[in-house]
Amino acid sequence: MAKKSKTAFICQNCATTHTQWQGKCDGCGEWNTIVEDNPLAGIGGGPGRAPKKGRVVPLASLDGEIEEAPRIISRVAELDRVTGGGFVRGSAVLLGGEPGIGKSTLLMQAAAALSRAGHNIVYVSGEEAVAQVRLRAKRLKANETQVLLAAETNVEDILTTLNDMEKRPDLVIIDSIQTMWTDSADSAPGTVTQVRQSAQALIRYAKSTGATVVMVGHVTKEGNIAGPRVVEHMVDAVIQFEGDGSHQYRILRALKNRFGPTDEIGVFEMMQSGLRQVANPSELFLGERADNAPGAAVFGGMEGTRPLLVEIQALVAPTSLGTPRRAVVGWDSARLSMIIAVLQAHCGVNLGQHDVYLNVAGGYRISEPAADLAVACALISSLAGLALPTDCVYFGEISLSGSIRPVPHAGQRIKEAEKLGFKSAVLPKGSSDVPKRNDESIFAAEKLVDLVVKIAGGKTLSYESDEK
Ligand code: TYD
Ligand code: MG
Repeated sequence: MAKKSKTAFICQNCATTHTQWQGKCDGCGEWNTIVEDNPLAGIGGGPGRAPKKGRVVPLASLDGEIEEAPRIISRVAELDRVTGGGFVRGSAVLLGGEPGIGKSTLLMQAAAALSRAGHNIVYVSGEEAVAQVRLRAKRLKANETQVLLAAETNVEDILTTLNDMEKRPDLVIIDSIQTMWTDSADSAPGTVTQVRQSAQALIRYAKSTGATVVMVGHVTKEGNIAGPRVVEHMVDAVIQFEGDGSHQYRILRALKNRFGPTDEIGVFEMMQSGLRQVANPSELFLGERADNAPGAAVFGGMEGTRPLLVEIQALVAPTSLGTPRRAVVGWDSARLSMIIAVLQAHCGVNLGQHDVYLNVAGGYRISEPAADLAVACALISSLAGLALPTDCVYFGEISLSGSIRPVPHAGQRIKEAEKLGFKSAVLPKGSSDVPKRNDESIFAAEKLVDLVVKIAGGKTLSYESDEK
């Protein structure tokens, strides 16, 4: 009996399926995003295909030979770091990012590098005409490589072209998946069904031929990869390209990776001549530091396996408002409130009459709780009007009880700081793998209040306002 095709109503934002049309999606709460669609069309090899009889698949034990996934190494070291050592052959990768962030630039540079290393690369642009892509390639000095170019949006045409090539490509770049459409779905390009089925066809191509397929995906205002989140589940790796318009640096981050770690970042700088790799990001985020400015503390952070030093700047100023302002850029504002509360409850530092501004230099975003200590020190330093030593680095987590808790990789953080000329460190007592020293260069703090005393010294602070 032929399968009856059943229509469903699919949200174009989150791909939730509904049995009937409605104004608001139950899944994501968006309005007017639901359209009638046929979710089963094309799945399993095309519409109307009779279900075939199953075959016996071999079952194996967990213990056995493991084959390293064969990879193609782009030699763009920052990109390879994020993918876990190069693109895995036969895998599908989704590269997300806001428009204009540099996705096409990054992929063109990677394509050129791979092509120079003798790989066969096809770049399919659904957004730009061949001339436009050529212009970019020229700017990036990629125009003399053997990268093959097509401006096409129909998946069947693309796949036929790829299958027709004399030498199977090693890497196929699809820029972007949102512009692709396939004959097997009858909805308009850009809809969930189209994007999903185009992605499915391309992923099937990758798996069956061993070519790597990299798909560009646009990101919505909320930071999700636009359209179908289902594509994120279908691919082997999701990589996000981030940064903000006012800064030149860009961060590449793996959100999902079936063949590698997800906590590594790649750092780039957008230049006139394309993206430049930043092998030592600490230098970028430390920038030009003013000597002896109160309120600045250098945080010894970690991104994946890589230490990263970044300056934290605080400004504490008496407020003229009833409710003091708390403004944070680059850090979690709830955590700032927590530190302010701990300072008040356990250290007698009352910031209730002060506006507090906190900024992470260079527009960088910190997610580690290890930054607590640096933030607290920056706040105390600003309030006291006393600059912290410029050659000191800070890290440690602060608990609600006012004690300072150890964080992982203390040794690595210190090593990075030393490499950059820092001479001392303030860190949690009980940190592991800290180099043993006889001098005073390492201050192991146990309670936050000890640090308040250390930083403010004998200076009477204006903080104990209720004692006045
Ligand atoms: P692009 O790669 O087109 O972004 P996306 O594909 O993510 O939409 O690059 C966008 C910006 O990068 C554009 O505003 C210009 C800038 N850019 C440079 O500064 N230098 C360059 O060499 C190139 C190619 C682009
Ligand atoms: Mg682009």
